[in-house]
Amino acid sequence: MRDPTGFLGKEYQELVDKALDWRLKQLQGASEPVTKVDGRDVLVLCANNYLGLATHPKLKQAASEAIEKYGVGSGAVRAISGNMDVHVELEERLAKFKGAEASLTYPTGFMANSGLIPQLVGKEDLIISDELNHGSIIDGVRLSRAERTVYSHNDMENLAEKLEEAEKKGYRRILIITDGVFSMDGDIAPLDQVAKHGSKHGAMIYVDDAHGEGVLGKKGRGVVSHFDLTHHDVHVEMGTFSKAYGTIGGHISGSDSLVKFAYNKSRTWLLSSSHPPAVAAATIAAIDVLENEPQHVENLWKNTNYFKKAVEDLGFNTGNSQTPIIPIIVGESHKAKALADRLYEDGVFVVPIVFPMVARELSRIRAQMHAKLTTEQLDSVIGKIEKIGRDLEII
Ligand SMILES: Cc1ncc(COP(=O)(O)O)c(C=O)c1O
Repeated sequence: MRDPTGFLGKEYQELVDKALDWRLKQLQGASEPVTKVDGRDVLVLCANNYLGLATHPKLKQAASEAIEKYGVGSGAVRAISGNMDVHVELEERLAKFKGAEASLTYPTGFMANSGLIPQLVGKEDLIISDELNHGSIIDGVRLSRAERTVYSHNDMENLAEKLEEAEKKGYRRILIITDGVFSMDGDIAPLDQVAKHGSKHGAMIYVDDAHGEGVLGKKGRGVVSHFDLTHHDVHVEMGTFSKAYGTIGGHISGSDSLVKFAYNKSRTWLLSSSHPPAVAAATIAAIDVLENEPQHVENLWKNTNYFKKAVEDLGFNTGNSQTPIIPIIVGESHKAKALADRLYEDGVFVVPIVFPMVARELSRIRAQMHAKLTTEQLDSVIGKIEKIGRDLEII
């Protein structure tokens, strides 16, 4: 007789046996540089809340006021009765901030990628994707019926070769997709060159700037601004409010026709309810903060440069990091896990990143900077990393 659910426990146990299961830690307070985790105050170096906006008073106030005015839920998908003025205002503000004709928000960044990519290309088309792109892009690509090919990470010669090959095959459309900032390595895609190669072949350019916005570019406008490009060069600028903006929600910016196309065709947009109005209101406040309080982005970069230099001077390998994502690459997975465990015992919360998230020999811990970390806090972390790194013979 068939056991309908026996596989659940069995497969979970297999993950546990290989130490590949996720053991969840519980935060008992806000996402702050120091917060209570499983009953202890720890210093958090693994949050995407780069600028500390998740607890910014202006965002909290905007959310509270929106709850008073609209309640806590939107009541429907946008296409039916869930399209509130606050959702529209957010998109207008975002488009202005991004220098785009129009913007569109999705419930999450994952849903923007998985819902839009399959609509942009079909079976007569080709997707060319960077080998280190985020899983939500990979799933969006898998959901499309287009042919696909992968270029070596940030390798522009390889991208040019793929485009030449594509030209011979006469595809209807070509879509090039890249992360703006790569989430495991913290390096930046050469988006200007990607756009240049793409434009020679009439390719559509799509960038996922989840980790670049609020970090790169003028006032944190993101990677398109960082390279001084426009939406004529980069046709789809995708991002998420779940990182530096401190809230939640995917978004795209580009032409008016992109946005109209996207909301009429993306199933993840049409068939999933809109944000609670408080989220939209808080995100508008996040844009206000980015426009008017440059100190947060400045502090983030100050901390990034300080920490990166200190760990590199100690002899740690930070790979090609160029942003507040600073990996400390140690090689074997057990070393990365030991480093993360020892740091956690010592009050520093970082996660080990091991295969299959990165190549087996490139296991690491990934430190993420935060605008509100003080120099004393950074020095204390650096001291701990040095001591444990020496104990584990990493340096
Ligand atoms: C590069 C990248 N794209 C997309 C996402 C998904 O964003 P969200 O959390 O809004 O679903 C993430 C989040 O982990 C990401 O790092």
